[in-house]
Amino acid sequence: MIKLDHIRKIFDGNEVIHDLSLDIPDQKTVVLIGPSGCGKSTLLRLMIGLLWPDKGSISLFRKTLTRENAELLRQQVGFVLQDGGLFPHLTAAQNISLMAKYLNRPIEWIEGRLIELCELTHLSRSILDRYPRQLSGGQVQRVALMRALMLDPEILFLDEPLGALDPLHRVGLQEDMKAIFNRLGKTVVMVTHDMGEAASLGDLIVMMRGGHILQHDTLSNLSANPSDPFVTEFINAQRKPWRHLEDQIQ
Ligand SMILES: Nc1ncnc2c1ncn2[C@@H]1O[C@H](COP(=O)(O)OP(=O)(O)OP(=O)(O)O)[C@@H](O)[C@H]1O
Ligand SMILES: [Mg+2]
Repeated sequence: MIKLDHIRKIFDGNEVIHDLSLDIPDQKTVVLIGPSGCGKSTLLRLMIGLLWPDKGSISLFRKTLTRENAELLRQQVGFVLQDGGLFPHLTAAQNISLMAKYLNRPIEWIEGRLIELCELTHLSRSILDRYPRQLSGGQVQRVALMRALMLDPEILFLDEPLGALDPLHRVGLQEDMKAIFNRLGKTVVMVTHDMGEAASLGDLIVMMRGGHILQHDTLSNLSANPSDPFVTEFINAQRKPWRHLEDQIQ
């Protein structure tokens, strides 16, 4: 479904993605995980043609991504960027339906789809008449997810879609997302820092470090057969970050 072939990306003379290849299969959720600055968002932006590789090629739906076809291919995928990326001067409903309007979908179709998406993401329709600044962080992230799902794309790219949430809301939306992905059979590429999220949502986990893929595997294989000591270190660091405080918690 998505293929990266020997990709390199250079920013201001620094190579941040080094000769990276990756195949993402149909209808699986693949999680990109790794420390801050390792290149996860850059890779995601390359996959949707918002950045261009200095070397190598990327294909979506078996078509090589080019500057000519990027806009058309981008209309066939859904994406949530790291900051949610809603337009502040548009209401949530206007943000979600922007692309559908651009593609001349009828108003009744758009309204029907908004109601379906509200059910799917457990958000009330009346909230969608608010502007992004009138929404909580969790609501913004649900709206960003609705916008990505609006045209029912086969592929979803999500960059830390739960990043701004407190742990309780995070778990709630994570469970909703899991149900949505299973029910809709999407191919999903999701970036996260959180091993728990990766374990819960990911069929496959791509562990990155310094612009390389260290291991591309299931969670159980990452844990049982790590390709590098860093893989174990990263998993263990998140197992229970507060375990040294356990004695103080009665
Ligand atoms: N537009 C840019 N210009 C210059 N350098 C950039 C640009 N975007 C990213 N970088 C650099 O590329 C590297 C990878 O950044 P990227 O945003 O992909 O990391 P990340 O893994 O998504 O990190 P985080 O987990 O903090 O979001 C970093 O060193 C970053 O400073
Ligand atoms: Mg990032």
